[in-house]
Amino acid sequence: MGMKTFLVTGCAGFIGSNFVHYMLDKYPDVRLVNLDKLTYAGNLENLADLEGDARHTFVQGDIGDAALVAELLKTCDPDCVINFAAESHVDRSIKNPELFVQNNVEGTVNLLQRCKDAWYDAGAKTWKTGKKFLQVSTDEVYGALGPEGYFTESTPLCPHSPYSASKASADLFVMAFHDTYGMPVNITRCSNNYGPYQFPEKLIPLLINNAKQHKTLPVYGDGMQVRDWLYVMDHCKAIDMVARAGKVGEVYNIGGHNERPNLFIVKTVIAQLRERLGDEAISEALITHVTDRLGHDRRYGIDPTKIKNDLGWYPETPFEKGIVLTIDWYLGHEDWMAHVTSGDYQKYYEQMYKNR
Ligand code: NAD
Ligand code: TYD
Repeated sequence: MGMKTFLVTGCAGFIGSNFVHYMLDKYPDVRLVNLDKLTYAGNLENLADLEGDARHTFVQGDIGDAALVAELLKTCDPDCVINFAAESHVDRSIKNPELFVQNNVEGTVNLLQRCKDAWYDAGAKTWKTGKKFLQVSTDEVYGALGPEGYFTESTPLCPHSPYSASKASADLFVMAFHDTYGMPVNITRCSNNYGPYQFPEKLIPLLINNAKQHKTLPVYGDGMQVRDWLYVMDHCKAIDMVARAGKVGEVYNIGGHNERPNLFIVKTVIAQLRERLGDEAISEALITHVTDRLGHDRRYGIDPTKIKNDLGWYPETPFEKGIVLTIDWYLGHEDWMAHVTSGDYQKYYEQMYKNR
C-alpha cells in the first residue's frame, strides 16, 4: 500500500498548486490537506477548478503556528508532510531578509518539531512506521557555478542570497532532525521551475506580462546568467517519486541539463509571443538592461544522475515544448494575470524596478 494522506504546505503558490493538480489527476484515492497562509504569492484561484473535490482540503494558516500544525497532524494523520511553503523570491529577500528567516527557517523547524511530537516515541527511540517529511529545497543552496561543472548532492552548501541562506538553513535543520533523532526525511533540490500559475515577479511570467503590454523587459546586468529550467510538472513528478521511493535521509537533486542564459529566455518569449499574437510591437527593442541584482549568482546547473539512477526520474518536457505550454497557459488565463497584478503588485513593481 502506497502513501495516501499528505499534509502539503504552501500549495496555493506556484509549485504547490501544480503539485496538488498532479496528485489529484494521478491518484483517485489520495487525500491532500493543504496548509498555506496565503501571502501575496498564495492564491486560491490556482486551485479554483478543484472546488468540490473532497480529496483536497484547504486550511489557511502559518507553518510556524505550533498549535495549528499539531492539530492538523492529529486530525489528518498524514503519511507524509511535504513542505513547499516559503518566501521564494531572491529580490524580496535582499530587501527583507528577516521575513525569510521567520518563514523559511523558523517555519520549517516548527514543522519538524510538530512531526517529531506526533511521530516519535522518545522512550523507545522509535518512529511510527510509514511516515516521512519531505523538504522542497533549491539548487541555490549550493551557491554559483563557473562555466564548468554541475551541482551534485555532495556539493558543499554555499548560499549567497538571504533567500538561499534561509533555504540552506532549513535544509540543515531537516538533516539535523534525521541525524539526531532518526527522523525519516528527504530533501529535494530543484533548479528554476517554469509553467502555469507562477507569480509574475519571476522571470518568465514577468516577461510574458510585460511583453503583451509592450512594456520594457528588464534584464539584470548583461543577461548572461545561466539557469537550468525545469517544467513544473516534471518537478511535481519527481517530488511524488521521492516521497514514495526516496531512500530515507537522502538528498535528491532535480534538474535536467536544460541550461539557458537569461537573454535566450527573453528572446524566446518575445519570438513566441510575437508569433502567437501576430503583434510586431513585441520585439527585442523592448529589452532593457537594468542594474544587476546584488550578489547575483552567475550560473546554476544540476547533475540529476542520482535521481535518474535511483528512482528512474528524468525531465520529460523539453524546453521548446514547455515554453509553448507555458505561454499558451498565460494567454488563456488573462483574468488570472489581471487579478494577481492588480493592487499591491503595481507598488512592488514600481519599487523593485524604478531607478534601476
Ligand atoms: P511561491 O512563492 O509561488 O509559493 C509559496 C507559497 O508558500 C505561497 O502560497 C505562500 O502563501 C506560502 N507561504 C509562505 N510562507 C508561509 C508560511 N509561513 N506558512 C504557510 N504558507 C506560507 O513559491 P514556489 O515557487 O511555488 O516555491 C515552492 C517551494 O519550492 C519553495 O520552498 C521554494 O523555495 C522551492 N523552489 C522553488 C523553485 C522555483 O523555481 N520556483 C525552484 C526550486 C525550489
Ligand atoms: P528569478 O525568476 O527571480 O529566479 P532565481 O533568481 O531564483 O533564479 O530570476 C531568474 C533569472 O532572471 C535570474 O538570473 C535573475 C534574472 N531576472 C532578470 O534578468 N530580470 C527580472 O526582471 C527578473 C525577475 C529576473
